[in-house]
Amino acid sequence: MNRYEVHCGVDDEIRNVLKGISTDKYIDYIAGKGEKITHDLEQDRYYINTFFPSFPGKHWDVYMAGLKKVGEGKRVPFQTDLVVTGRCHCDCWHCFRAKYSDSNELGIETIRQIIGDLEKLGNSVVGITGGEPMLRKDIVDIIKMIPDSMEGQIYTTGININDEFVEKIKGTSLRRCIISLDHYDEEVVCKTRNSKRAFSDVINAVAALKKGNIYVSLTICINKDIITLDDLFKYVEFAKELGVNEIRMVSTISQGKLEGKNFAKDHLYAMKIIREVKKKTSNDPSYPAIVNFGEIESARYLGCGAGVNYISVNADGSVTPCVSVPLSFGNVNEDTFENIYNDMGRFFPKASCSCVGMATDLIRKKMNIETENPPFDKETSIEIISKCLCSMRSSDFFEKACK
Ligand SMILES: C[S@@+](CC[C@H](N)C(=O)[O-])C[C@H]1O[C@@H](n2cnc3c(N)ncnc32)[C@H](O)[C@@H]1O
Ligand code: SF4
Repeated sequence: MNRYEVHCGVDDEIRNVLKGISTDKYIDYIAGKGEKITHDLEQDRYYINTFFPSFPGKHWDVYMAGLKKVGEGKRVPFQTDLVVTGRCHCDCWHCFRAKYSDSNELGIETIRQIIGDLEKLGNSVVGITGGEPMLRKDIVDIIKMIPDSMEGQIYTTGININDEFVEKIKGTSLRRCIISLDHYDEEVVCKTRNSKRAFSDVINAVAALKKGNIYVSLTICINKDIITLDDLFKYVEFAKELGVNEIRMVSTISQGKLEGKNFAKDHLYAMKIIREVKKKTSNDPSYPAIVNFGEIESARYLGCGAGVNYISVNADGSVTPCVSVPLSFGNVNEDTFENIYNDMGRFFPKASCSCVGMATDLIRKKMNIETENPPFDKETSIEIISKCLCSMRSSDFFEKACK
């Protein structure tokens, strides 16, 4: 039996499920976006995509309460990503973390305290990332700490994800696995990730997760030297054969290994080919849902909630507005996450309609600040963010779905 049923948009069934657990404004907003919605028949759970919590459930109610508060002008973290380790077995051609120290790890008790604070703050999704989070021996213990008021998702290369791991996380709040796969060709994948096992790890992980009925999203970083439109179509076919639920399509961030590169043209190229692929597959339920990062993080959709509705804790304990924004505003080894998050309201009062990372990186360049040893200390971070006018206008989502 097929465990999943894909709806190509918000139809009567989805509307009925959402009614009573969501506001009309929210339902209309999502309906207007035409995203595919995946129904997990076995667990009777619906997934829009990994940018939104699945529904129904306690974490969904927390998310809805958060949206209401945001509509009233309050700050609420919807999603927090924890960089549980800086370690990684790969050495990818593009890694934005290349300049971060790889010797740091968030302590298990520190993670417990952060999660406790997140509960108090009304956070609804927690992301476990790295480095490579699956290298941690206590990864299952970390996953088990995520309460049912939050939904967990892990960002990984797929290493160490096997039947045994999937069995251990059954019934926990970790429902979504986001696995990096930048090409359908094994040789390209292993070469660009500098790891002989990079491709087979993905294939093995997807097989184990599918068996365990865990929602799987692949993430592909699109660069025109590696992926043509034809390749992207082949990639989507490959992902469909693998049986994944979603593909997240991202363009390159000019940080770490790619610092100093101008990807403006590549970004436009990525947007163009993603749109073409999405257009051809969006009305066909046999294809995975496609998430276009450029579109979803634009002013016409979610925009950028960095530092407000989205936040991250780096492996050294520093609290940063986003995993790829190297500014820091305190350290959970010295203060509580709650205090640091609340204090950040001075600099991040409300979500922005455009990427905070890009804006602050331009300011950093103008100020001639070196990028060695990220993230920057609090003083430097405040200097940079004080010159940033990011939070002047909110995205469509905040204007239409929250108020
Ligand atoms: C930093 S990794 C951490 C999780 C895990 N190590 C992995 O690679 O999946 C998270 C995601 O960021 C992506 N990434 C890394 N550097 C990037 C860059 N410069 N531009 C866009 N995406 C990047 C990776 O491909 C991966 O999908
Ligand atoms: S992108 Fe992920 S797998 Fe690659 S080096 Fe960076 S942290 Fe490791």
